[in-house]
Amino acid sequence: MTRVNVTVDGVQCSDDVEPRMLLVHYLREVVGKVGTVVGCDTSNCGACTVHLDGRSVKSCNVLAVQADGHEVTTIEGIAPMGELHPMQQAFHDHHALQCGYCTPGMIMQALDVLRENPNPSEEEIRVGLEGNLCRCTGYHNIVKAVAACASSAAPVAEGSEAR
Ligand code: FES
Ligand code: FES
Repeated sequence: MTRVNVTVDGVQCSDDVEPRMLLVHYLREVVGKVGTVVGCDTSNCGACTVHLDGRSVKSCNVLAVQADGHEVTTIEGIAPMGELHPMQQAFHDHHALQCGYCTPGMIMQALDVLRENPNPSEEEIRVGLEGNLCRCTGYHNIVKAVAACASSAAPVAEGSEAR
């Protein structure tokens, strides 16, 4: 076992993990952040996307030990006061989900797209989200939601809460 110290959604976590443990399994099974989900075993779907030091990563493609000393934000950390983050609200307003399975990863990736480019074109949004698969929506409403959030100039709020 290896001790890792990771700040998850603003809370310092210190845990012993198997060196082979994936970050997504650490988040779900050890820290209890089940809002981050697993949608494939091929690093293909993006459902597991979180932010590692502010940048999106597929957490099934990162070892927990690689997050040692770093900061992770999950979908559960973007709106710690219990209200919807503006990106979550935009997804709601534009019917950008059906089953919702892709939504946590899609929103975390969408926030990273806007962090890199606060005013993206539709094409740039589509390219930014190309690593995230949705089996339900056809993507059109997801793109509309991200564009609406961008035009509202909503900040990327990443908060903290007690574990
Ligand atoms: S679960 Fe990580 S990319 Fe599919
Ligand atoms: S809303 Fe069902 S997979 Fe995207």
